[in-house]
Amino acid sequence: AVSRKHSIAIMGADGIGPEVVAAGAQVLQKLAQLDGSFGLEFEDYDWSSDTYKKTGKYIPDGGLEKLKKHDAILFGAVGAPDVPDHTSLWGLRLAICQGFQQYANVRPTKIFRGTQSPLRNASHGALDWVIVRENSEGEYAGQGGRSHRGQPWEMATEVSIFSRHGVERIMRFAFETAQKRPRKFLTVVTKSNAQRNGMVLWDEVAVAIAKEFPDVKWDKMLVDAMTCRMVLEPQSLDTIVATNLHADILSDLAAALAGSIGIAPTSNLDPTRQNPSMFEPIHGSAFDITGKGVANPVGTFWTASEMLAWLGEEEAATKMMEAVEAVTERGVMTKDLGGSAGTKEVTDAVCAELERVY
Ligand code: NAI
Ligand code: MG
Repeated sequence: AVSRKHSIAIMGADGIGPEVVAAGAQVLQKLAQLDGSFGLEFEDYDWSSDTYKKTGKYIPDGGLEKLKKHDAILFGAVGAPDVPDHTSLWGLRLAICQGFQQYANVRPTKIFRGTQSPLRNASHGALDWVIVRENSEGEYAGQGGRSHRGQPWEMATEVSIFSRHGVERIMRFAFETAQKRPRKFLTVVTKSNAQRNGMVLWDEVAVAIAKEFPDVKWDKMLVDAMTCRMVLEPQSLDTIVATNLHADILSDLAAALAGSIGIAPTSNLDPTRQNPSMFEPIHGSAFDITGKGVANPVGTFWTASEMLAWLGEEEAATKMMEAVEAVTERGVMTKDLGGSAGTKEVTDAVCAELERVY
């Protein structure tokens, strides 16, 4: 009998979002069936840029309260060609992240067996990172304004916010993440040479929190130098913590270095577990390939696996990644990874592989 039940909100939203999320749901359903010790209940949410264009809102009144009753959210991507990106991002994704205090954004990266990194000397195992991104404040706190619109003397401010509370909780989370990994090694990314207030507080808090984790080694890098280190010495890194903006950029670089943005996952976590956490592929709505059946579903599979681990289904999470990697190793891959398979072929191959794994 099924002992554990998890209620999952499914929100594909825009572009290829619904395509990859449907693939993710198919694989999850298969996994739950084969495993038999836990159950998954899906509820579909159609919040998207279409909803916004029809109603003026991405999230209907009372929507967040409804969403809150789920154990987790599987999200696709938001963004449409005819809606400004800041409207779509703040209207849906950031509204959920900030509303649910999902302050830790976790982005693992690795080179899958059978795939190729654009780095000449990096193969499977050379690059195995977890980037922890501050996900509630910093440069994306939403503070600032515009005045004298349209005038030559128009001005705009985008104020970065670094609160001691906010920095402490993300540093502690990052050290804990590093501690759970075999290398127990954290790199703190900063820019305290140029940004002499918020980033200096960031550095000071890192030093203080490090004392709580005597078994974790750590070092500090300026963000610009960090891009060089990621490219030239990928083996020298393991767990990385950076601000909202810095980690946003570094994690796209990380995904590209691992082979494709189509494989990278991201978890938006409320580590206090008072709210559901949200899991999504790192990529956007990719209008250029929408509806063609070629979107890489691997980023969504990986994030679905992270979701299972977060819900306590560690074993199923591991099996899922074994199946995904067995499929890439056989060369069943989408075009972005150099293959010729479509979304459906990859998804069916992963389901078939799961039957073998179980
Ligand atoms: P994008 O990630 O949508 O696309 C960048 C490039 O990567 C495109 O050439 C696309 O075809 C390719 N790509 C992305 N995902 C892929 C996949 N699964 N398989 C194969 N190829 C894939 O980023 P872009 O073009 O900057 O943004 C498009 C829209 O998505 C914008 O409206 C943007 O605001 C939004 N966006 C939303 C995000 C979210 O919801 N978390 C994240 C990033 C962008
Ligand atoms: Mg990004």
